[in-house]
Amino acid sequence: MTIRLGDAAPDFTQESTEGPIHFSEWKGDSWAILFSHPADFTPVCTTELGQVAKLKPEWDRRNVKPIGLSVDPIESHSRWVGDIKETQGEALNFPLLADADRKVATLYDMIQGEAATTTVRSVFVIDPKGIVRLTLTYPASTGRNFDEILRVIDSLQLTDGYRVATPANWKNGEDVVVLPAVKNEEAATLFPKGFTEVKPYLRTTPDPRG
Ligand code: BEZ
Repeated sequence: MTIRLGDAAPDFTQESTEGPIHFSEWKGDSWAILFSHPADFTPVCTTELGQVAKLKPEWDRRNVKPIGLSVDPIESHSRWVGDIKETQGEALNFPLLADADRKVATLYDMIQGEAATTTVRSVFVIDPKGIVRLTLTYPASTGRNFDEILRVIDSLQLTDGYRVATPANWKNGEDVVVLPAVKNEEAATLFPKGFTEVKPYLRTTPDPRG
């Protein structure tokens, strides 16, 4: 099944390094990032899991719960977790699904390519209402940039609350653009810090928060 932006995130129950997880209950009304790995005991995956663990304060600040997935069994995960702590200097501080029966991988279409049996590097960002807000698919050979995923979450959380969008390479705190549907008269009220009209369709305004 192809999962598209705006779809309800499929629910599941699966074994994990923190015991059985019923996804919607575990997530509650937080945001979540569900991301898959090709296999346990692989170098890129090891660095990725260490990196996500190191970013815990950043996930917490945004009310995001990370959850990883690999299609290896729980016994394998339990041994690998020790290596992650040893080599990455950070213990795993979020659950890693043991999707040995490929239940979740199949549900989220994480196994891609002719004759493939393991997952690619999929990413799903899911909002507090359980809606898929971002999907990314990386090849096995390329480790993900989790700063970029945090950046997109910052954009989603800002643009959910204000009638703005974020421009290319935007980072939290930088100027944003006013949605084209907002008329200038309305923009003057919505954005008390003012806005700059570069073109009638391209208007910038400072971060509207605070
Ligand atoms: C890795 O995680 O290091 C990896 C996994 C599959 C293919 C290539 C690299």
